Amino acid sequence: MKNPASSLNNKSKFLILGCGFSGSFFAKTIRKLGCTALTSSRSENEDPNSFAFNSENGKIPNKKVFDGITHVLSCIPPDKNGNDPVLGSLKKQLKNLSPEWVGYLSTTGVYGNTKGDWVSEIDQPNPYQNRSHKRLNCEKEWLESGLPVQIFRLPGIYGPGRSTFEAIRTKKIRVISKKNQVFSRIHVADITNAIIYLLQNKNSLEFHRIINIADDEPCSQIEVIQYCYDLLGLKMPKPILFEDAKKELSPMAQSFWIENRRVSNKLLCKTLGYKLIYKNYKLGLKNCYLNS
Ligand SMILES: NC(=O)c1ccc[n+]([C@@H]2O[C@H](COP(=O)([O-])OP(=O)(O)OC[C@H]3O[C@@H](n4cnc5c(N)ncnc54)[C@H](OP(=O)(O)O)[C@@H]3O)[C@@H](O)[C@H]2O)c1
Repeated sequence: MKNPASSLNNKSKFLILGCGFSGSFFAKTIRKLGCTALTSSRSENEDPNSFAFNSENGKIPNKKVFDGITHVLSCIPPDKNGNDPVLGSLKKQLKNLSPEWVGYLSTTGVYGNTKGDWVSEIDQPNPYQNRSHKRLNCEKEWLESGLPVQIFRLPGIYGPGRSTFEAIRTKKIRVISKKNQVFSRIHVADITNAIIYLLQNKNSLEFHRIINIADDEPCSQIEVIQYCYDLLGLKMPKPILFEDAKKELSPMAQSFWIENRRVSNKLLCKTLGYKLIYKNYKLGLKNCYLNS
């Protein structure tokens, strides 16, 4: 990674709303670069850099939390009505800050089902699932907020501590095959590093309001599962056809198999020049294997 001194420095202070899997990885990495990061969680905890924020019970951070914030990253999903929890509760505070930059983690679910075709940022969103309609509404709220927002559309996120290995170890794995079905993915380190790359090069790169962050190789779930079993030196159970497995899947699990798309990263990786750390699931899962 390049020396961040030019655009991110020890005066950069990040407010990370929603410190779950991606938010905590981002916070950890940005601190290593000398920046300050305050993070939210729905419950109080001992961490001096963490504060409580819960849009559902009106738990709002106190004024001091916003002091000197230069950058904001929201990793919080839509609320049950399809509105953005951050904008619903904190829009005024964020606007008063006049931050240099605001990032919003969204999903590639807004593209809907392309029957395996590639989708890019210039394609019109065509959400199918109810949750994706809610997400598109949140994107719209952010775009219309008047804040300098950049939206990152993400496919399935994985990384150390959250990958197929955990599903195998906890015996929650379902080895399902569905002909011609592919999924796109992204390693959590590439979400963080792509965003940092864009911030470090903000002055020289064209600003895009919507950017996909996905790896180079969408592929079937079976290939990923087989690779994990191989790394573990175990025999993969015989795959069950989706049609047979369907009745035992929860509506949420079924919904993931309804859509089939390949998410293009050309804007990020060709036009803007970001180099993926983990170009494909094999490289990313090897990292998970070594770090879980
Ligand atoms: N997981 C995926 O594969 C995937 C794929 C594409 C896009 N995304 C989206 O990308 C974003 C980051 O994903 P992730 O998997 O890193 O998220 P995550 O681990 O589920 O973390 C979500 C965070 O949001 C906080 N949160 C949820 N509802 C809230 C509310 N009403 N008020 C305040 N805080 C709230 C949670 O608080 P607590 O820490 O208290 O739980 C948590 O810190 C999310 O919007 C997610 O929907 C996820």
